[in-house]
Amino acid sequence: MDVLLGAQWGDEGKGKVVDVIAPRYEVIARFQGGPNAGHTLIFEGQKHVLHTIPSGVFRAGTVNLVGNGVVIDPVIFLKEVRNLEAAGVDVRSSLLISRRAHLILPTHRALDAASELDKGKGKIGSTLKGIGPTYMDKTGRNGLRVGDLVRTDLLDRYKALVRKHERLLSLYDHPGATAEAEKEWLDAVAQLRTFNTVDCEHYLDQALREGKHVLAEGAQGTLLDIDFGTYPFVTSSNTISAGACTGLGVAPNRIGTVTGIFKAYCTRVGSGPFPTELNDATGERIRTAGNEFGSTTGRPRRCGWLDLPALRYAVMVNGITELAMMKADVLNGIDTIRICTHYRIDGRNVDRMPFDITEGIEPEYIDMAGWGDTSSDAELPVQLQRYIGTIEAAVGVPITIVSLGPDRKETILREVAHAG
Ligand code: GDP
Ligand code: IMO
Ligand code: MG
Repeated sequence: MDVLLGAQWGDEGKGKVVDVIAPRYEVIARFQGGPNAGHTLIFEGQKHVLHTIPSGVFRAGTVNLVGNGVVIDPVIFLKEVRNLEAAGVDVRSSLLISRRAHLILPTHRALDAASELDKGKGKIGSTLKGIGPTYMDKTGRNGLRVGDLVRTDLLDRYKALVRKHERLLSLYDHPGATAEAEKEWLDAVAQLRTFNTVDCEHYLDQALREGKHVLAEGAQGTLLDIDFGTYPFVTSSNTISAGACTGLGVAPNRIGTVTGIFKAYCTRVGSGPFPTELNDATGERIRTAGNEFGSTTGRPRRCGWLDLPALRYAVMVNGITELAMMKADVLNGIDTIRICTHYRIDGRNVDRMPFDITEGIEPEYIDMAGWGDTSSDAELPVQLQRYIGTIEAAVGVPITIVSLGPDRKETILREVAHAG
């Protein structure tokens, strides 16, 4: 099983790359996160944004598996299915959902909103999809799972959980879910029950034994990981490659390649530290050229230069074997492009990610010549080749995919000898 995941703060372009390489795989499996994710795919003049459904769904013959590590909002899930069906995609026949995946309730969303309001200025900047509260119920051993939908006492279990949520919401003095939201959820659950469910650990074991190729598709990114991200400004799941094992029930020794996706620069949406952030005209230029607005929430994304200590950290904690560099075209026309090679902390040079990057951290840069334009069909501009070479040398991993535009076709697959 190969893994593909975000090496930065999410929105690196995972959806695009999964769609490009999906024909190499029989199964594409999401292993964590939920509708906080927004994975964009563009081909044949059409744009699609996926939240819960894996990005192999447009490739005929690919099985798309929603793993046990994912949290599902039945209402959002159904909307996504309907949109895909309207676009002529037969989702139902290619989709499998783990019985162990947890369900997001309307009151989880209310709790998310209550918690953020309570934090005030210190808010996480959550997508407010109920992700944190749902994972809290999972680890707190209170959650409802897809496999529970066939139980005769489902409604009692649902009501018991809602009662618990209402007690918590009253502490926040925050309203619960409306009657309409509850009804919509229960209707959606009745629909969700008709989809194919599976014990994904057994399903994938069998698939791998049969020699099938499986790709685990990550959501969010390494720096949003609950353990290794910029805590507490993170999401509530393990976004790193280890999360693919727990989120699918596949043993670590079955992992093959790990592809890390990163942008030629950095972005972050929501609160939290971001050492190379550009609060100036260049940051604004990148946001505009890169259309850096959230795929799920529409919020403007914060933009900054590429951060090598952070990328090296992502390579380390994920065991990244190859990299895909996205959106180099967005930097077209910028004369000098900067790369952060290390941080300066208390007067010392530090080239690894410290425990806390909130304060007292100065990024140190090298300046690279810009590459003008990437739109011609000729070879990559020599300055861009140099940019790629500098990153490869600094992190010790080859960049095997270079993406120069949002469309499926605007992708260069590079034949590079594996480093080390
Ligand atoms: P994901 O969450 O990692 O799948 O990424 P998102 O879909 O949230 O954000 C990536 C955005 O960049 C989307 O709007 C993509 O269409 C777009 N995109 C992906 N690759 C490229 C690229 O190489 N160049 C440009 N200009 N846009 C890209
Ligand atoms: P994809 O898969 C970028 C961010 C939110 C917030 C923090 C916690 O599209 O890359 P949550 O809703 O999980 O409680 O939010 O994480 N965040 C993302 N940022 N891309 C994502 O997903 C994200 N999912 C969550 O903005 O800062
Ligand atoms: Mg996204």
